[in-house]
Amino acid sequence: MKMRLLALLPAALLLAACNKEAPTEPAKPAAETAPEPEVAIAGIKPVDVPAGFGYPGNRDEFQAWADTWQIDNITTAAWNLWAGMTSNSGQSWNGTELPVWDTWCGNEEVFTAKGCVTLERPARAFQKPSQIGHTALRAGKALPSDTQVVSFNKFNPAMANYLGSQHAGPGNANYSYVAMQDLANLNAAWPAETPISARKVEETPYQPDNGGTEGFTAIETKPVIFVVKATGLTPMPLWMGPQQSTTPANATPETWFNCVLLDPAGAADPGTAPVPATPAQIAQIVPGSTMACKNYLYAPLATIYNFKMDAAEAADWNALAPNSGDGGQGLTAAEGDFGVLGGMHVNSKAIVNWTWQTFWWQPGADAPDNFPGSKQGMTDNVAGAWRNYAMCTAWNQTKGNASKDMVVCFNPFLETSSGIPAGQTSNCMSCHGTATAGSPLSGSPLSLPTLSYPAAYTQPIDFNNDPRYATFTRTDFSWAIPSNAFAPPAAPATPAAPASEATR
Ligand code: HEC
Repeated sequence: MKMRLLALLPAALLLAACNKEAPTEPAKPAAETAPEPEVAIAGIKPVDVPAGFGYPGNRDEFQAWADTWQIDNITTAAWNLWAGMTSNSGQSWNGTELPVWDTWCGNEEVFTAKGCVTLERPARAFQKPSQIGHTALRAGKALPSDTQVVSFNKFNPAMANYLGSQHAGPGNANYSYVAMQDLANLNAAWPAETPISARKVEETPYQPDNGGTEGFTAIETKPVIFVVKATGLTPMPLWMGPQQSTTPANATPETWFNCVLLDPAGAADPGTAPVPATPAQIAQIVPGSTMACKNYLYAPLATIYNFKMDAAEAADWNALAPNSGDGGQGLTAAEGDFGVLGGMHVNSKAIVNWTWQTFWWQPGADAPDNFPGSKQGMTDNVAGAWRNYAMCTAWNQTKGNASKDMVVCFNPFLETSSGIPAGQTSNCMSCHGTATAGSPLSGSPLSLPTLSYPAAYTQPIDFNNDPRYATFTRTDFSWAIPSNAFAPPAAPATPAAPASEATR
């Protein structure tokens, strides 16, 4: 599915969509006098986290919390960010009110020439999370078979704007960070004397509040989606720790023993606690579901963020399932079925090494030992179904700069795959700190060299001095950049070039 640009929209609106500094009210055609509600604007306008949620945050204060491991303050700030990005955007699509994050552009906009503009439909290009296949692909091996969840990336207006811009770099040149060749050129252009710490892309944006002007900062997200059938009861895997899995060392969602039967015809109250399912309910499980569930709870669909799939989304889903996966659910989607949010990674450039937090659906009791996180410390401003998500954070690699104790924070829906080395002991910052672009491009199709993921998480990485960075360019912790940058157009099929061309 490709997102389409609305050719009729005024240029000012298109620009405003990706630029927080532009006026928030789009320019209206002269003939239009009465103010229109947001929903009347054709298309979805990417909006940023609104005021009142502590966004973008005070960098010095946040950095001090990360440095000295003030985990209570970190937890509060992370829940506030969750509350803000899940708050109602005032826009809706196909009957679903869109949370702020679901108005954001995805890879299909920011990593193409199209750029992030007003969307015709939410950017939900389902794909297999490429981090899971990354190690296998680099080693030339087949993808691990327990790699099945469906996800996509989204970028808030500040990050989309950054990715859509040209950036000055060595050799008096400008570089696009969404083009493979530019990234490789950038890496090749560093003068020999460049210190390792300077071999990096321009910092992604952070602009603090200034008097009455609200600030902004880059945010990236990676939502994980499952499908719930419109009729019958669909099992949704419920994380209860790695021991509650057929494969504790790689406890991917389809191996979990505990499942919640989600009922689209159930109560509308997202605060409804899951209860043990009755035999009659278990008898209504949708046919074909293939997960390892053996303990069943029951809850209404309203307890999880859900959106109705239209025909195009259902077709996308079904096209993806056979060649990559569907979370191990074994179901096909049809128009009118629901996409539901199992989990979601979130990072923000509020501090230089980014704040890292991840959320996963955890209605009712928290997982044993609150591993790797819980709903504890949730702030009152988190509303509705969003209150049913647990969280862990990794604002530092260790529990404060003075500690040798590594932070463990991963998303049970994502980092449990065997495609991620030591995923269940991982933390976000260390792995994203290895996000790099190298040179030259090689292979067919062409690909960009990058560093490998950390093999283990036993000690922090020195992002400014680690010698492994000496031949790479760090991409400001964004794996999306080297993973999704587009390849140069294929060379035209011409007869052998003259020697002078070929050796250039
Ligand atoms: C083993 C390495 C690894 C770990 C651990 C990891 N990630 Fe990622 N993550 C990746 C890769 C690779 C991608 C790129 C996927 C793509 O864009 O196709 C990615 C994508 C993302 C994205 C989308 C934007 C981007 O930068 O690519 C976000 C947001 C994100 N991860 C956050 C997190 C958070 C939060 C955690 C910790 C809870 C985490 N990640 C743990 C490797 C990792």
